[in-house]
Amino acid sequence: MLKKTHTCGDLNAGHSGQEVVLAGWVDHRRDLGGIIFTTLRDRYGTTQIVFDPEKEKLIEQAKNLGGEDVITVKGVVRSRPDDAINKNQKTGEIEVDVLELEILSSADTPPIYTNIESDTSEEMRLKYRYLDLRTKRMQKNIIMRHKIVQSIRSFFNEEGFLDIETPVLTKSTPEGARDYLVPARLKPGNFYALPQSPQLFKQLLMVSGYDKYYQIVKCFRDEDLRADRQPEFTQIDYEMSFVDEEDVIDCTERMLAKVFKDTLDVDVPLPLQRISYEEAMDRFGSDKPDLRFGLELTDISKCFEGTGFQIISDILENGGVVKGIKVENAAAKYSRKMLKELEDHAKHYGAKGLMNIKLMDGNLKASFAKAVEPGVLDKITETLELKDDDFVLIVAGQRDTVNVSLGALRLEIAKRENLRNSHEYKLLWVTRFPMFEYSEEEDRYVAQHHPFTMPVLEDLDKFGDDDPSKIKAYAYDVVLNGWELGGGSMRIHDPKIQERVFDLLKIDRASQKEKFGFLLEAFKYGVPPHGGCALGLDRMVSLMLGEDNIRDVIAFPKTTSGTCLMTSAPSPVDEVQLHKLNLECKKSEKVVNKI
Ligand code: AMO
Repeated sequence: MLKKTHTCGDLNAGHSGQEVVLAGWVDHRRDLGGIIFTTLRDRYGTTQIVFDPEKEKLIEQAKNLGGEDVITVKGVVRSRPDDAINKNQKTGEIEVDVLELEILSSADTPPIYTNIESDTSEEMRLKYRYLDLRTKRMQKNIIMRHKIVQSIRSFFNEEGFLDIETPVLTKSTPEGARDYLVPARLKPGNFYALPQSPQLFKQLLMVSGYDKYYQIVKCFRDEDLRADRQPEFTQIDYEMSFVDEEDVIDCTERMLAKVFKDTLDVDVPLPLQRISYEEAMDRFGSDKPDLRFGLELTDISKCFEGTGFQIISDILENGGVVKGIKVENAAAKYSRKMLKELEDHAKHYGAKGLMNIKLMDGNLKASFAKAVEPGVLDKITETLELKDDDFVLIVAGQRDTVNVSLGALRLEIAKRENLRNSHEYKLLWVTRFPMFEYSEEEDRYVAQHHPFTMPVLEDLDKFGDDDPSKIKAYAYDVVLNGWELGGGSMRIHDPKIQERVFDLLKIDRASQKEKFGFLLEAFKYGVPPHGGCALGLDRMVSLMLGEDNIRDVIAFPKTTSGTCLMTSAPSPVDEVQLHKLNLECKKSEKVVNKI
């Protein structure tokens, strides 16, 4: 086999006259009255190679070349005539006059396009992923992912972190999703769990004295999948000892700034903005607010004080609120039908209804005008500083429902009004998450992060109160363009505090021992104060590239139903395998695949 000397993206006029060997895939072939032009492609670029009609044997070989055949050619680089220079091609100044051709393998006609942008269905792209990965878009994404990972590694290495692997066959971790289980052949009836994160192991590494740990690591969660979730995904996971929240936040910010600079040449101004969970919910109706646009939620309860509008006065008397979002310069555009669609959207998120006010040509029109005194509308106009062609969407009810439903409307309006620029990056921290949240399903409080998260010290005396949801934690999320990029917390290292948390979570001694016994035991032998964080690498890469779905930055992803369309995993296994594992399968209904 001829050994290649250059890639298909290397050559320029400076190489003219040199003999070179190139190897790659046939991108396309043009026969022009005897002379054959072929574009050769590899992941570095494309190069035009030319078969001269005078070289009869070569021309005969070249005539049979088809798209995606793999070949090597030896030839001489020559400058193209001025009128044939292609400025859009890296090697557009030259072509290679072929002297020798070796066909390494011929290809069938591929089922999907690899060399032009097309609207091939995602199902086909996933089925023939190895071909999809040949496309420019996917190559760009995969190469970017690599660069991001290298930049992250270089940051942690320079800061003195150690990259330490943790087990994949392990015990359940406390991240709250369902586990993927692996039957243990040598211990019939027992199972390993695939880690939802290395959480417990990284804390154990702190006990062992490895004060700065990091790992770029696969995690597994059996949960409902969507655009930003895969059953197996990659975390940038790190943990530090003898630090406080500020140190972890500072380290994360510097890492993010380096990665953005190294890979996109984007300057991220530090420190990042920080807002508390409570403020995020209040102003944006979300714990992962997209700050690329305004449309903040405003409390207008005061405007309704003393109103005879019964529904609203009842809500206010029962501790509820009335809040609105002002949308500027769009009142005329939003028809009754569109407002109805928005109302349905808000109802989907728990709102009982949606009121609106429009200011058009100096006239105030409110969907609830008949129910309120005119003064109410004047107060709203004044509070929200309404101008002509502005309109307001209003929801009344209990604070959480109002925030969440208006938060969903905020995103919907941003989508309709095209307010999200995928090349703008708005990073922020959301801090002071509640330590506990009530689970209807389990009829008890559960940890919002995990039970080892450190409660805010000033809130320790709230442990005996009726409403544990008021207790905050040293827990923080970093948010990028409305997606939760990562999250972490300071951990409890004081056994007395840990005990109070377990008591409140109603995790009794036996369950503590069974689930986390090894960690609690380890903490008896000298545990430093510690904390850490984990970022979703797939989410980070897709947001940096402006891709809407993390599947597009993963070489071999799964569909929303957790299937790999290329390998058909998961698939049935034969009886013998099951028997060896001491397992039996109940027959189940056929599940339809969803992308
Ligand atoms: P958490 O559960 O918040 O924290 O996960 C950290 C980050 O991982 C990403 N992520 C996912 N990405 C793709 N698909 C999924 N199914 C998925 N689930 C999570 C998100 C998320 O912000 N052990 C803690 C971290 C810590 O406390 O140090 C943890 O795993 O970007």
